[in-house]
Amino acid sequence: MFLASEVASLRLFVQLCISTVYCILWSVFSKVRPWTAGVGCLQEKGSCSGETITPVNRKQHQKKDVQPATTPTSVNYHFTRKCNYKCGFCFHTAKTSFVLPLEEAKRGLKLLKESGMEKINFSGGEPFLHEKGDFLGKLVQYCKQDLQLPSVSIVSNGSMIKEKWFQKYGEYLDILAISCDSFEEETNQLIGRAQGRKSHLGNLYKVRNWCQQYKVAFKINSVINTFNVDEDMTEHITQLSPVRWKVFQCLLIDGENAGEDALRQAERFVISEQQFQEFLDRHTSVSCLVPESNEKMRDSYLILDEYMRFLDCREGRKDPSRSILDVGVTEAIRFSGFDEKMFLKRGGKYVWSKADMRLEW
Ligand SMILES: C[S@@+](CC[C@H](N)C(=O)[O-])C[C@H]1O[C@@H](n2cnc3c(N)ncnc32)[C@H](O)[C@@H]1O
Ligand code: SF4
Repeated sequence: MFLASEVASLRLFVQLCISTVYCILWSVFSKVRPWTAGVGCLQEKGSCSGETITPVNRKQHQKKDVQPATTPTSVNYHFTRKCNYKCGFCFHTAKTSFVLPLEEAKRGLKLLKESGMEKINFSGGEPFLHEKGDFLGKLVQYCKQDLQLPSVSIVSNGSMIKEKWFQKYGEYLDILAISCDSFEEETNQLIGRAQGRKSHLGNLYKVRNWCQQYKVAFKINSVINTFNVDEDMTEHITQLSPVRWKVFQCLLIDGENAGEDALRQAERFVISEQQFQEFLDRHTSVSCLVPESNEKMRDSYLILDEYMRFLDCREGRKDPSRSILDVGVTEAIRFSGFDEKMFLKRGGKYVWSKADMRLEW
């Protein structure tokens, strides 16, 4: 009897020691790797099991509609939030200045590839800003050369791109999308789609010519809003001849461009469904036009933020999952809010390798 109670006390003592050591190790580990702890969020420790629960993702942990895991066929990695432009409607704002170390970003991209990723799109903030585009170039090269991804693309405002970048990394890039919301310089200024008085359109045409010279497919993205909704862009788009012209209806995201803690207030840019349709009707002769209404856009993108957390937009804001670097892709993607049907409906899967495109150049 006496021996049995001694053994039980000893076991309890050992268990207590193990859990204390585990807690200490976890707290040290979280400090060394800030993305584990979700820097930028107010954090609170859920338990010593390694679960870090933030006020934002606590809701998700309780959510009933956690999704079954889907394949991350096409992923958008917003590795930086910093930008040199001030677009008034921007829905991915500079809430942190964090960028993962290069080797960690590569590790995450490898995990995605192992989970079935075929296309990666690098976005931001402005992706050419960090290390003057060298960080981006290294990721582009890694994804094409090492991971052999069928499609590697970038979305940029085009203002920071240099010819040298194309000389070094152009061969690894399939598609470069440049955002342009107006062919009137003054309208771009009013929107904030500019750095100071520098010409946004000048950069657009320069980059378009480099794409031709260095054999990169050229794409254009436009956000339709109150400032450009009456414009007719047919002539300019026809002349620039992009492989795709994505036309977005200006979207509001709480905490980004709407609501109290947002860095932008974009309500004055918002247009109705009918106004958006009228813009589309004016451009029916442009065959490369791909329209994206708010409904089509909101949940049809797999978005990874600067910590490699999927962002769930279903509630009209960007609720983060845990980082794929901590819990893996299969677990994190269940909190992505991704609507695969809508992704296919909006034509998310298309000929996306430049090797398969019949580029005229
Ligand atoms: C957030 S930006 C980041 C990349 C780069 N800075 C740029 O502007 O192209 C990615 C894309 O989202 C678009 N975008 C930004 N805010 C938007 C909004 N409120 N509604 C719809 N599209 C938006 C941009 O025009 C761009 O094509
Ligand atoms: S939409 Fe404008 S402000 Fe936002 S990241 Fe792109 S260029 Fe910067």
